[in-house]
Amino acid sequence: MDRRDTDAADIGAEIMAHVAALARLSETPDGLTRRYLTPQHRQAAELILTWMREAGMAAELDPVGNVVGRYEGTDAAAPALLLGSHIDTVRDAGHFDGMLGVVTAIASVRRLHEAGERLRHPVVVIAFGDEEGVRFRSTLIGSRAVAGTLDPAVLEACDDDGISLAQALSDFGLDPSALAEAAWTPDRVAAFVEVHIEQGPVLERRRVPVGVVTSIAGAVRYDVEVTGMAGHAGTVPMALRRDALAGAAAAVLELERACAEGPDDLVGTVGMIAAHPGAVNVIPGAARFTMDLRAACDETLRQAEATILRRIGDLCAERGLRVDVRKTHTDSCCPCDGALQAALGKAITGEGYPVVSLASGAGHDAMAMADLAPVGMLFVRCCGGISHNPAEGIEPEDAEVATRILLRFMRGFVPAGARV
Ligand code: HGY
Ligand code: MN
Ligand code: MN
Repeated sequence: MDRRDTDAADIGAEIMAHVAALARLSETPDGLTRRYLTPQHRQAAELILTWMREAGMAAELDPVGNVVGRYEGTDAAAPALLLGSHIDTVRDAGHFDGMLGVVTAIASVRRLHEAGERLRHPVVVIAFGDEEGVRFRSTLIGSRAVAGTLDPAVLEACDDDGISLAQALSDFGLDPSALAEAAWTPDRVAAFVEVHIEQGPVLERRRVPVGVVTSIAGAVRYDVEVTGMAGHAGTVPMALRRDALAGAAAAVLELERACAEGPDDLVGTVGMIAAHPGAVNVIPGAARFTMDLRAACDETLRQAEATILRRIGDLCAERGLRVDVRKTHTDSCCPCDGALQAALGKAITGEGYPVVSLASGAGHDAMAMADLAPVGMLFVRCCGGISHNPAEGIEPEDAEVATRILLRFMRGFVPAGARV
């Protein structure tokens, strides 16, 4: 532990307390759900602004509701080292997915501040408002806005209550027309580094607290609508039905089969499904479901996508059903910067731990930030590899180790190609 930092146990306790404080800011009385631009997002943003300012940062909300804290360096002209992750959650979420990356970054800057220490490069911590895409069914809104790649058309996306993103931004006190002002230019950014729970079992199985991410899986998402013929549950013979939900169920199993036939890194999920009109004695005339496909390489993903769409089309045709698919998200596989991987590995070694490198099956803000700057990720071991689940957890000791490694990385940080 560097002599300039407070006691290790303090760091672990601080991280866990801050994560717990954020976890109490939920839209639901039980469990944690915090969607983008909700009152609970505002509460979380206010808490993070306070922590950032206590850590010596100038902090504010950016035009899309990200919380941005800046800790000046000694060289005002130097590009910034960006840190951070997201503070929105999935429904009934764990407490660490996203929030850990924000809290560890703030804790690291706080220790620089307490030691009266300035790095050459300014450090900017960003708490992205939307990564999960739960409210508006598009993902990475916060980091894409910062990267300057957010499609303005997303302003028309509506939530389940019919509120558009533009309206939600206005309701939050922001100006939807100022979307582009959230964007950073590459000359201002040296790198983006994100600390995140692994959300898988590898580090726990390898008995190490952290790992260096090599690449982030690509993903495509679809909304699928199957249309058949509503009818009386008691009077229509099975052979004469055009049951949309039965067709959708066959499609779900077809997706599962196609992914199981593929390589281990190919995964497919139907996370949402609904029958319409939705009555116990009515044959569903329509069914809607989502598809989420991921793979470690773009070609695998492209082939799986084509196979699954073809098979679903064929099986629906055999059943006399119409199927409409709408792609709602696509992200190419994202390699992490080699120099940042090496620098994170060096910091891990410096703290006395072995370096384990691993790919990420989950998507992260780093994918969007890769359009702006070199990106690196430090994974933290999570209990049982569980995530997107209230049982998600980490050990305080691992939180403290990750923060110490991040601090060591920051102190040693030299952008690729920079004069030392
Ligand atoms: O879906 C993901 O991989 C991330 O949690 N948004
Ligand atoms: Mn997530
Ligand atoms: Mn996440």
